[in-house]
Amino acid sequence: MRNSSKKSLNNVKASSLEIVKPVKTKPYNDIDLNNWKLYENIKTGSWWEFSSRDNTRGHSLDYHGNYIPQIATQLLERYTKKNDIVLDLFFGSGTTGIEARNLGRRCIGVELQQNMVDYVSSKFTKKELVVDVNIIQGDSKSEETKKKVEARLEIMGAKSAQLLILHPPYDDIIHFSDKKEDLSNCATTEEFYELFKRVAKNGYDLLEQNRFAALIIGDAYKNSRYVPLGFECQKRMEELGFVTKAVIVKNITGNEKAKGKYANLWRYRALAGGFNTFDHEYIMIFQKTKLKKIKK
Ligand SMILES: C[S@@+](CC[C@H](N)C(=O)[O-])C[C@H]1O[C@@H](n2cnc3c(N)ncnc32)[C@H](O)[C@@H]1O
Repeated sequence: MRNSSKKSLNNVKASSLEIVKPVKTKPYNDIDLNNWKLYENIKTGSWWEFSSRDNTRGHSLDYHGNYIPQIATQLLERYTKKNDIVLDLFFGSGTTGIEARNLGRRCIGVELQQNMVDYVSSKFTKKELVVDVNIIQGDSKSEETKKKVEARLEIMGAKSAQLLILHPPYDDIIHFSDKKEDLSNCATTEEFYELFKRVAKNGYDLLEQNRFAALIIGDAYKNSRYVPLGFECQKRMEELGFVTKAVIVKNITGNEKAKGKYANLWRYRALAGGFNTFDHEYIMIFQKTKLKKIKK
């Protein structure tokens, strides 16, 4: 009798020990490292493929050039805590803001086109627009916009953002507007890099130390040459002080608006021109951190 009650006490002790296992998280997300096996949905590899676009919880393919919501889901879960503020300096149709709201994060989005700002605002309730999602019309590379973001951060009770997302135009592949400040209207690719760097500099200054930034970008093919937009922009990020943490290759086939409508045309052109079609884009992850310089 005694033995059996001791046995059951031991069992109780063992199970309660399991219950009180402390939650172990990093300062930049809510992932409990003591239960890391539970997070099967979070991608840690360098190859991302999503069979279809998430069209639920407020998301829709309503803007030529928007990214698939699963990118925002992955980035927010991996690099933010609940209630953190994510800053998106190329807000477009507001994918980042919608997913921030869905996951209990806050967001500041900057977009150049006033009509997009008005349209995206209609996706949120008045209360959400006051408390959780702040949308600013402006040129993300300007000092004026930087000051506006700082003012919004102050209203939200913060000094800086906890995650930076940059999804710029891929040079002039899609023209987003006729505005001269629009990065898709640069006269040359060199000018595009220069203006991108100015936006990224504002982002760097507005980001909290030790937090992360994500750059979503694809390469281009121009004048019969491959143009490595992704790696050139990565170089500019490093020049600003960001440290590269990951370069992810994302399969884009089936995710784009035309859904492969022009696939045959591009296959013919590729065969005829000696180049390959683009099936991928990059998601590059950076950290604003002071790492010791590597001796060369
Ligand atoms: C690739 S799209 C971003 C799409 C967005 N991630 C989404 O899911 O809808 C790039 C956006 O940057 C905007 N843009 C271009 N130049 C800008 C600038 N100087 N300042 C702010 N936004 C700019 C364009 O109007 C366009 O909406």
